Amino acid sequence: MRVLGIETSCDETGVAVYDSDHGLLAEALHSQIELHAEHGGVVPELASRDHIRKLTPLIEEVLERAGLQGKDIDGIAYTAGPGLIGALLVGASVASGLATAWRIPLIPVHHMEGHLLAPMLEDDAPEFPFVALLVSGGHTMLVEVDGVGQYKVLGQTLDDAAGEAFDKTAKLLGLGYPGGPALARLAEQGDADRFKLPRPMLNRPGLEFSFSGLKTAVRDLLKTLDPLDDQTKADVARAFEDAVVDTLAAKCGRALKQTGAGALVIAGGVGANQRLRARLREVTDQQGARLHFPRPAYCTDNGAMIAYAGWQRLSDGLEPPFAIEAKARWSLEELQPPAVR
Ligand code: KG4
Ligand code: ZN
Repeated sequence: MRVLGIETSCDETGVAVYDSDHGLLAEALHSQIELHAEHGGVVPELASRDHIRKLTPLIEEVLERAGLQGKDIDGIAYTAGPGLIGALLVGASVASGLATAWRIPLIPVHHMEGHLLAPMLEDDAPEFPFVALLVSGGHTMLVEVDGVGQYKVLGQTLDDAAGEAFDKTAKLLGLGYPGGPALARLAEQGDADRFKLPRPMLNRPGLEFSFSGLKTAVRDLLKTLDPLDDQTKADVARAFEDAVVDTLAAKCGRALKQTGAGALVIAGGVGANQRLRARLREVTDQQGARLHFPRPAYCTDNGAMIAYAGWQRLSDGLEPPFAIEAKARWSLEELQPPAVR
């Protein structure tokens, strides 16, 4: 079985072909970071237009690289949500058009299910059940994964996502977009003992997150530090990073204890953060659990995870090719396990 996967939920156009016997055959990604950088964040209308420009050439490129034609594909998976509605509609429309032309099933995929299953693309795939921490620019959630389609959201952010908090704080520090990697680089030079920022919601039970107060705490701190020299900036960056990392690590530890799961899986762009990786290694070592990080390219948005999740759902994703599904909001917990293949 070969599934073509299409990802257009935000600012990355991703395409890949997954083969159930041979794994990934080819993949390609176009990032819109440069396009949005001058606006300091993702502009939805620009994102949709760029997906329109890039998606069809990327599909041609991937098929050519895999040495395949339409007749060799058994299903088309596309991200049906959650995400930016205009961006989602581009992927859904192109997928629907191709599925109609090639007379093959069209498979709507939940973007977060794609992230949750991405580590299954690695040789060292985690075994169910596991706990997944999804930390991206749009989402921060802990999910108990008992199998494909068996997801329980253990806790999520009540306001800003962790990546969003990194980006907004980076902006306060005058760093470019996306701010997460820039802030993390600056924090390397920072003194961990100079400033202490609050660890949001750590002293409360439960697995909810909240990051907007932390951003406000940084803003208030910066007001007292005017003018801001480079070392002070780095010290603030370090204090912020430590506060986010401590909070995420503590809640991951709690989630492992609460579920008794033997593995923790990290997905989403913030998973690239080195200090977070090191802290989570400590937490999982302490609890005797395994830690799985998909490679960075599968932590961030990509077509491969959609092709893979689509293959898992090929049996029950038999939408008539002309039916387009696109949902800006869509709870992971609405999903059911796939029908038996
Ligand atoms: O998963 P992703 O590529 O895109 C979506 O949000 O869907 O995540 C991007 C987010 C951005 O907020 C970015 O600032 C953050 O991940 N990020 C980082 C690092 N690399 C990317 N945050 C902290 N440290 C990093 N090294
Ligand atoms: Zn994503």
